Amino acid sequence: MVAIEHQTTLYRERLRPPGGRRGTTGTILLSVWGKGGVGKSTIAAALASLVRQSYQRVVLVSTDPTPSARQLLCKDNECGGIEVRELCENEVKRLWVKRFGDEVYEVISSFLPVERWIIDYVAGAPGISDQFMLYYIYELARSNNYDAIVWDTVAAGASLRLLRLEKEFYTHMGDAARLYLRVRSALEKLRRGKRDPLELINSWRELAENILSMLSSSSHRAVIVSEPSRLSLAVTKSILGELRLHGIEPRLLVANKLVEENPCPGCSLVEDVVRETQEHLLGIEELGLSAVHVPYVPGEPRERVEKVARILEKEGVLRRLGLLP
Ligand SMILES: Nc1ncnc2c1ncn2[C@@H]1O[C@H](COP(=O)(O)OP(=O)(O)OP(=O)(O)O)[C@@H](O)[C@H]1O
Ligand SMILES: [Mg+2]
Repeated sequence: MVAIEHQTTLYRERLRPPGGRRGTTGTILLSVWGKGGVGKSTIAAALASLVRQSYQRVVLVSTDPTPSARQLLCKDNECGGIEVRELCENEVKRLWVKRFGDEVYEVISSFLPVERWIIDYVAGAPGISDQFMLYYIYELARSNNYDAIVWDTVAAGASLRLLRLEKEFYTHMGDAARLYLRVRSALEKLRRGKRDPLELINSWRELAENILSMLSSSSHRAVIVSEPSRLSLAVTKSILGELRLHGIEPRLLVANKLVEENPCPGCSLVEDVVRETQEHLLGIEELGLSAVHVPYVPGEPRERVEKVARILEKEGVLRRLGLLP
C-alpha cells in the first residue's frame, strides 16, 4: 500500500500542470480490458463519445485492427471531435526503435561487442511492442495535450502480459544496475569518454516505475468488459486479480451483450442464452464491482456504438467513473 501511494505521488509530481476540466486534474486515462470479442472496442468507442460530451480534448487509442476504431467512430473522417490513434504492430515497432533503439544499443554495446543490428533484434523480441504501448500511453498522458485518453487494450492475454512485463522490467533493471555496479571499474577502462550506461539503466527503471504509478494513480479508471460466457467470467476474474496485483482497482464492470429476458417464449436457443446471462450476472455480482448492464444490441457494429453510448449515458457511467462533479 505504501509503495502504491509512493508511486502515485511520483506520477502526480511528474505530471505537468492540470489540463482537465470540471475539477479534475491532469489527463484522465480510461482503459478497457476484457477477453477477446467481448466488446472492448465497442465499449471504448462508446465511452470516448460519452466522455467527449464533457471533455474537450479526447483521444481514443487502439492497437486493434478489426473492427478499426475509426470504422466504429468516424464518418467521412469526422470522428465526433475525438482524435483516433490506431497503431499497427509495425508502427509500434518503428516508434520503439526511434525512442529506445539508440539507448539500448548504447547500453548493450558497453557490455558486449555488438553492431547496430542488435536494435532490430531487441525490437522484435516478444512483448516489446506490448510494453511500448504502456510507454506510448504514458507519454500521451504526460504531454498534457489531452483531457482524456481512452485506451482500447489488446485482448486479455496480451494486456495482462504487458502489465507483468512492466513490473519485470522494473525488477530486472534493478538487477542490471547491481550487476553493472559490480563490473563497473573493469568497464570504465574500456569505455573512457562515453556516457555511463548506469544513467540510462536508471532512467529506464524510473520510467517503468512512473508508468506503473500512472496506472495505480487516481487519474486512471480501468473498465472491465464481460459477456455471458463461463470463459469470459474466468477471464474477468483473472484480469481483476492481475489489475489488483498492480495496485489498480477497476472502477466499472460492463456486463455486455446480455439477454435478460426471452422475447420469444418457447425458443430453446434463446432460453439457453437467457440462462447463461443469469448465470453470468450472478458470477459478476460476487465480484462486488460497480456493474453496468448492457443488453445485446442488434445492428451494425457502428450503430451498436451509438446505442451502447446512450445506454452508458442513461446508466450515469461518467458520474460513476468520477468524471462528472
Ligand atoms: N452490446 C452488444 N450487443 C451486440 N453485439 C455487440 C455488443 N457489443 C459488441 N458487439 C459486437 O461484438 C463483436 C465484437 O465486439 P468488439 O470488436 O467491440 O469486441 P473486442 O472485445 O474489441 O474484440 P477483440 O478482442 O477482437 O478486439 C462486434 O461485432 C460488435 O459489434
Ligand atoms: Mg477490439
